[in-house]
Amino acid sequence: MRNKIIAGNWKMNLSLSNAKELTTEVVKKVQALKLSKEVKVVFGPSAPYLESVVSLIPKSAKENVSVSAQNCHEAEKGAYTGEMAASMIKEIGCEYVILGHSERRKYFLENNSLLKEKVDRALNAGLKVIFCCGETLEEREANKQFVVSQFQLENTVFKLTEKEFKNIVIAYEPVWAIGTGKTASPEQAEEIHKFIRKITADKFGKEVADELTILYGGSVKPANAKELFSKPNVDGGLIGGASLKSDDFISIIKEIL
Ligand code: PGA
Repeated sequence: MRNKIIAGNWKMNLSLSNAKELTTEVVKKVQALKLSKEVKVVFGPSAPYLESVVSLIPKSAKENVSVSAQNCHEAEKGAYTGEMAASMIKEIGCEYVILGHSERRKYFLENNSLLKEKVDRALNAGLKVIFCCGETLEEREANKQFVVSQFQLENTVFKLTEKEFKNIVIAYEPVWAIGTGKTASPEQAEEIHKFIRKITADKFGKEVADELTILYGGSVKPANAKELFSKPNVDGGLIGGASLKSDDFISIIKEIL
């Protein structure tokens, strides 16, 4: 049975005390929900808070709750001032790293060939990868939404071996829906997710595709989560703004149950 994941991407937000408070509150409420083991909640704090957030997750919650970095460098180590190695992220107890987010592609000019190197490095370090893909508004208006995600995946995670690919979670995040309040309709999300599962099956076989967790991201909030998650190929969400408030984040988590 494939995992369902609700992951928060805090981006460059929150103070340390707010981050700790949010983590503690969400962990407490998640524990009360007694989630089954295939439901996972992931926190994605900014780099300086990673270790604190990891330390606030009690052993008893670790089966369901873990932490993701928002980026890693493609090199193993070395003279890269300001950067963070995948092995360091792993060493402090994170389980995931988010790669391929449209903000990294846009503001930090990360292209598919660099992202493939980052994915390799993360997997080598023993991390799992939440890999983002998705089209811009212009691309959607030109009806290119299928080919854009396909191209992004074919040039990155579809180059992995089947064994490696099992550590990938895909997040479909239409760029026009991120932080804009405009959400893809459940039907729009489902048709891309279904397509991603199909091309995954073409590449790695049906069994691998059936096990793949595909998240939707882009203005998910308590009011639209239920409908989005009701679609058969939407296995959870990558949540930005609404992951910063414990009540909203918990409401979204409840909608996947
Ligand atoms: P949003 O961000 O929920 O604020 O739109 C989603 C994301 O960027 O992952």
